[in-house]
Amino acid sequence: MMADTYSSWELWFPLAVNLAISIAVYNFTVNLIPKLRDKFIKANLFGTDMNKQTKDKVPEALGVVSGCMFLIALFLFIPVPFSHKFMNNDVFPHHEFVELIAALLSICCMVLLGFADDVLDLQWRYKLLFPSVASLPILMVYFVNFNSTTIVIPNPFKYWLGFSSINLGIFYYIYMWMTAVFCTNAINILAGINGLETGQSFVIACSIALFNFLELSGDLWKTHQFSLYFMLPFIATSLALLKHNWYPSNVFVGDTFCYFAGMTFAVVGILGHFSKTMMLFFIPQIFNFVYSVPQLFRFVPCPRHRMPRLNKDGQLEASKFYVSDDELSFIARFILKIFSMFRLIDFKTEKKVYEINNMTLINFLLIWFGPTHEAKLTTVLLIVQVLCTCIAFIIRYPLASYFYDIPSS
Ligand code: UD1
Ligand code: MG
Repeated sequence: MMADTYSSWELWFPLAVNLAISIAVYNFTVNLIPKLRDKFIKANLFGTDMNKQTKDKVPEALGVVSGCMFLIALFLFIPVPFSHKFMNNDVFPHHEFVELIAALLSICCMVLLGFADDVLDLQWRYKLLFPSVASLPILMVYFVNFNSTTIVIPNPFKYWLGFSSINLGIFYYIYMWMTAVFCTNAINILAGINGLETGQSFVIACSIALFNFLELSGDLWKTHQFSLYFMLPFIATSLALLKHNWYPSNVFVGDTFCYFAGMTFAVVGILGHFSKTMMLFFIPQIFNFVYSVPQLFRFVPCPRHRMPRLNKDGQLEASKFYVSDDELSFIARFILKIFSMFRLIDFKTEKKVYEINNMTLINFLLIWFGPTHEAKLTTVLLIVQVLCTCIAFIIRYPLASYFYDIPSS
């Protein structure tokens, strides 16, 4: 990018306004959430904290407040990036405008569907259907505005295959759709202890924002500026929610928040053309998903809740599921053998009934490090998330130059 663009009004003015709106929205949201607590309980939107002795009602689905405040912030912001076009009487960039509107439409749709899920407590198949539907507006914009489905082959494979890029066509759209489905559900299944849903989303958003800031001086500054328009209000509204969701939680965020967060990340990753880099910030979620596969795809039983359980010393320990020997298929036996070989699971057998820990990253840490206090466990998981961000940056910067001639997102 030209040096003058980097210091230009076009780059920094919208970001400065966006930051100011985000700070205002943070203050508003952080004060609004406690005021709405009782209204949510009255509307029957509450749950009980399964890892506390007391069984008080904790309002559920407060993520809808963050989601709505985020949308309001961005609705107010819509004219700002285009203001200089009006002032200079330039040609109006319709393609940029439609990108912003479609991105907001997808996120708005996801907040609505997430809230419907919290209110109606829907079955798992809808959890796959919802993000698929909500991602259609951005996939359509991607098709109209870019329709670039060619990917660069990493150097070591280039010589092997004999070509340097490949057009994936429809498969690229399938990949983007899967990104949206993955991001929304990955956060929802790494959940169940106070502050974890909001905490991990906050760390991922900060990682994406840092990456965007570093890339503002590059040629693709516009897409990274676009991503920051979403990340700053997201950081603000999720931080406001985290304050009330941290141990001991006064509010639960609900699936609304997990979907809202996941879709926001998918939108910026897809429209910002850095979905591969973005996936690097999801390393703990990817581990948690792969580790969960035997339960998610029902090779072994999957209880309704897989979160850790409170022991008599007031600490959390891994929760378990039980399966009898004759219930296990050949594939299930094979998976369990591999998992136990690498000490990925903790299991006991009694009278041909296996007692195995629920396969989540949270329980995994507990079987390795022993019972832990809830707040400490969330903190450790967030530290793991931050360390994975560091690994992501190492892969993205020093290592990417080994795999690609021109660093690609
Ligand atoms: C997902 C997980 C489930 C986990 C649950 C916890 C899968 C397949 N599903 O289900 O294993 O138990 O999230 O969110 O991995 N809760 C707490 N403390 C918290 C947060 C939640 O006790 O810090 C409880 C509350 O009772 C709350 C309920 O979890 O009402 C919310 O669960 P929900 O989001 O409906 O579960 P799922 O997303 O379906
Ligand atoms: Mg949930």
